[in-house]
Amino acid sequence: MAAATLSWTDWLLGWRDRLLSSPAFHRAASGFPLTRPLAHRHAREVFDLVAGFVYSQVLAACVKLDLFRTLSHGPQSLSALAKRFEMSNEAAARLLAAAQSLKLVEQRGVDASGESRYGLGRLGAPLVGNEAVIAMVEHHAVLYADLADPLALLRGSGPPPSLSDYYPYTADEASTRAAEISPEKVASYSRLMSASQPLVAAEILDAFSFNGYRHLLDVGGGEGRFLVSVSERTPQLKMTLFDLPPVASNARQRFQSAGIADRAEAVGGNFLADELPRGADIASLVRVIHDHDDARATTILTSIRRALPAGGTLVLAEPMSGTPGAEAMGDAYFGFYLLAMGRGQARTAEQLTALLQACGFGKVRMLPTRIPLQVRMLVAEAV
Ligand SMILES: C[S@@+](CC[C@H](N)C(=O)[O-])C[C@H]1O[C@@H](n2cnc3c(N)ncnc32)[C@H](O)[C@@H]1O
Repeated sequence: MAAATLSWTDWLLGWRDRLLSSPAFHRAASGFPLTRPLAHRHAREVFDLVAGFVYSQVLAACVKLDLFRTLSHGPQSLSALAKRFEMSNEAAARLLAAAQSLKLVEQRGVDASGESRYGLGRLGAPLVGNEAVIAMVEHHAVLYADLADPLALLRGSGPPPSLSDYYPYTADEASTRAAEISPEKVASYSRLMSASQPLVAAEILDAFSFNGYRHLLDVGGGEGRFLVSVSERTPQLKMTLFDLPPVASNARQRFQSAGIADRAEAVGGNFLADELPRGADIASLVRVIHDHDDARATTILTSIRRALPAGGTLVLAEPMSGTPGAEAMGDAYFGFYLLAMGRGQARTAEQLTALLQACGFGKVRMLPTRIPLQVRMLVAEAV
């Protein structure tokens, strides 16, 4: 019975594939008024796949030129922008036309001398002061260099990707010696994580309340921005952050500057080899598990289970594979990002649930987040 269903499906999909790969079909579909919009959308989607890198580079140029902040003070003329960009009017006009086509800027009439003026576009406006996106765009120079030959990356036949150096804790020996990683080696990725953390924290805290808990242990908590956000919404909560020693040391300074050092401590260590601090009734793992293969993820989750009492809670938040409407984020973007990083994978909620259950957690449930593309959340109970 199953085989018959499969062959019918195969036949149907084969027919669809033949149709979609036929130039005659495309000509007919784009000529017929009822199918024309669909044919145009398909053509655009295929073109966007082909041209995606160029779009990213247009955005990178705008970010490098600090264009969005510049335009946040009001529209500017073409020659004023060209002067600021240190390029000819022609080059600036080319960039602005590209940015306008991507809705990053928009033309706002002409000035007194008849020159075009430009203001923020619908997609450019949310980038003003958006530390997270700007940091990611700048960071992508490293990623895109690693992806220049995707087959070499997949086959492991090219030079070692730079992203694996960028995240030194992914190295093989990190399972025993991660705690020896130097302050210089953690600086870049920690800055990037801190820049993007507030968006993630807002999502988590809108979906889950830490009120009613006594003591939170944030495992792989980075430089502490998540705990600072938690502290603002949960004034009574005691907090412990665990991360590599140089990262924990930066978190300690952040807690001091934020005035929460009396209830937030930072402990340095290696979660693949050291025991985690005891005493918390809730733990969080924010954007940590996707960095690790199943063996390391199991070590981390089992260690958290040991650190929590029975009935304790674990909040796991990260982008997940198979997120409806954001499939490409999980499987294409994170799939290749983590490949270049040298370890880890974006997992589906079901895969993470199975891992949690294998490590002594039960009652796993998913909490809806406002922007699942950014982060999804599972909450589990230590059994
Ligand atoms: C992707 S970052 C996420 C940081 C933070 N939770 C956030 O969302 O901004 C992963 C964190 O895990 C930490 N980490 C990686 N390997 C570790 C290890 N073996 N022991 C302790 N922390 C580790 C890193 O230093 C880093 O801060």
